[in-house]
Amino acid sequence: MSKQPTKQNKGNMTGLLLMVLAAIITIVIAFPVTDSIRKMIKDNIKYIAGTYSATEQGFGGKVKATVVVGDNGIESVLFDGPKETPDIGGAAILKINEQMKAAPDTEFDAVSGATVTSGGLKGALKKALLKARGKEVEEDIEVKSADIVVIGAGGAGMSAAIQAAQDGATNVVILEKMPITGGNTVRATGGLNASQTPYQKRDGIEDSNDLFYEDTMKGGKNLNDPELVRTLVENSAAAVDWVNDIGGDLSVVGQFGGASVKRIHRPSDTSAVGPMLVKTLNAKLDELGIPVLLETKATKIIADADGKIIGVEAEDEDGSFIINTKAVILATGGFGSNPDMVVKYAPQLSGFITTNHIGATGDGIEMALELGAGLTDIEQIQTHPTVNPDTATMYTEGVRGNGAILVNNDGNRFVNELETRDVVSAAILEQPNEESWLVFDTAVRESLSAIEKYINEGIIVEANTIEELAQKTGINKENLVATMNKYATMQSAGEDSNFGRKSMEVPLTKAPYFAGLAKPAIHHTMGGVKINTQTQVLKEDGSAIPGLFAAGEVVGGVHGGNRLGGNAVADIVVFGRISGDNANEYVLANGGNTERTITANDEDTNFVPQDIKTDLADGSYKGIAKGFGGDVDVTFTVKNGIVNDLTINGGKETAEIGGKAITKIKRNIQSTGEFKVDSVAGASITSKAVSDAINNATLQ
Ligand code: FAD
Ligand code: FUM
Repeated sequence: MSKQPTKQNKGNMTGLLLMVLAAIITIVIAFPVTDSIRKMIKDNIKYIAGTYSATEQGFGGKVKATVVVGDNGIESVLFDGPKETPDIGGAAILKINEQMKAAPDTEFDAVSGATVTSGGLKGALKKALLKARGKEVEEDIEVKSADIVVIGAGGAGMSAAIQAAQDGATNVVILEKMPITGGNTVRATGGLNASQTPYQKRDGIEDSNDLFYEDTMKGGKNLNDPELVRTLVENSAAAVDWVNDIGGDLSVVGQFGGASVKRIHRPSDTSAVGPMLVKTLNAKLDELGIPVLLETKATKIIADADGKIIGVEAEDEDGSFIINTKAVILATGGFGSNPDMVVKYAPQLSGFITTNHIGATGDGIEMALELGAGLTDIEQIQTHPTVNPDTATMYTEGVRGNGAILVNNDGNRFVNELETRDVVSAAILEQPNEESWLVFDTAVRESLSAIEKYINEGIIVEANTIEELAQKTGINKENLVATMNKYATMQSAGEDSNFGRKSMEVPLTKAPYFAGLAKPAIHHTMGGVKINTQTQVLKEDGSAIPGLFAAGEVVGGVHGGNRLGGNAVADIVVFGRISGDNANEYVLANGGNTERTITANDEDTNFVPQDIKTDLADGSYKGIAKGFGGDVDVTFTVKNGIVNDLTINGGKETAEIGGKAITKIKRNIQSTGEFKVDSVAGASITSKAVSDAINNATLQ
């Protein structure tokens, strides 16, 4: 290895060298120069502070070296090789990692019997060290191919892929960076807005595409792109039919804020729309054989010299790879979980909590910007008015739509609860302590099964009388009683003389009564990449980027300055399908379909988490048991018979066998809702350890 410093560091290095020489002279006079001092000096000279990773071929797959360099030289060296055989290559990696933990080094001896793995590790370390010296290192990048690459397995991406396949596309692949599909879509609760549907007709609701258009434009403060809104409303009824045709269930119609009539469609059991939709889309993807590559993050969309899309760069646990493609559908969702990006565009939201899943970080917007895409309404970020401030659980607007009211700590109503979200959020922020209480009765509870989740989570106060509700919540008792009496009177008269609320479903007089603390939280990023009605991504000048399509929350323009509740799920199905249609057309016009070349990894894409039920008492639990490589520990909390925050850690289990088994066991518990362990074939020791750890925890 060369001992020369890199060019860019030569200036700094000269100064550093002089200092080091002075130090050496001092040390030589005082002490003999030991090997470790020599090495420390060498490291200081050679490496630039930072973290560097590189991969090389091992025995079973790629092995990886990660080197961390601090101001005083190399701080740590760590190897990873999830595809190495656990007993040979895997064991060698564990051994070398132990040595490196005790004394990080740039060299090590090959482990006998694991020479191929050891060679791979040495190669990977050599590359990582070269990077740490500022050198360019060529990585062998695997190349795959697909006709259409969909980035993001939320509602928009999955709808797009299914539609493309239904149109005849044969080589579609979805990349998803998280371990499960669903993104924010699986969290969607209230429903999907659609006009002129058979279900509205059945219920005698008079609606029209024009009325839906007007409500959406008004709700969005007329900032919306009128053509996109027209496309949304005119395709909304077909979206309901399509979801139902592929096995979904959207047949109950309810009231939401900003809608002139009942328009939001949800499942017949009044449960949350998202889990139903994601389960339906996952099943259809399986049926069509469309691969979903989980834990695979797209990092860059590649265009040729003419700006035409030709590929996607992505990374998974084995490292980076490229998928050559003809068309890309960007469906990465919004950026509600990226506080830096939120504050960059909407500084007033600094410090707000979010309802979003952790993967909503705006990756798609960054990737599109690199290709010169334009952005629309990027500073328009919506807060949802009723979110529990401790758990960030959103109480669906459906609770208000079905009759609940909002009161402040003084026990007074302060707003028409069915106003648009911007209005209700602003009103709450003007109340004492910037908070409110969502108050409802048993009639509302019975009308919406989504409410059971909040009750199970323990975030709803329950009482037999209004006086008791006031006492338990700390709301002013006299005022709350007066407010509830007045509301019941106004409801029976059919007129809200205080705030002009149109839909007052029930008098709120059926005990027991309920209240949940509610504050606004970041909910929807309405701005995003610029598209036309064909979902082609546009540059600032309005020209389309050939081969690049986008749909869903990554896009701007559909919702303007404020999204109506229920319009995002309509958006992802309507525009997801349009993007699938158009990407397929584009592929046909650019060389046609090819045979499928990519297969899915073996994860279960049908995973939809359920409440895990138990008869354990409320509290926190932890249990430990011996696994294959070390201890396996299980932690969870229980509230009202529901297991929350389940973690299963087996840090020393082999990644490929025990690690995967742990993931499988956890998923199985979450998808069945049953707190029991089914042994995973080939990983019986790890499986038993998880089972024992759970038993040990429950014995507490
Ligand atoms: P998502 O569903 O978020 O999917 C995007 C996917 O892309 C994610 O899985 C993400 O992990 C993946 N991804 C991101 N970056 C990458 C990358 N670099 N590589 C690979 N994958 C990547 N709207 C309604 O209309 N009705 C409702 O009832 C409703 N309820 C809601 C409740 C909650 C709690 C929340 C948070 C939102 C709700 N919304 C609702 C809004 C709606 O759910 C979302 O706007 C919509 O589902 C977004 O869908 P999407 O497919 O665009 O994005
Ligand atoms: O309140 C809700 O159920 C959320 C709906 C939405 O964001 O559209």
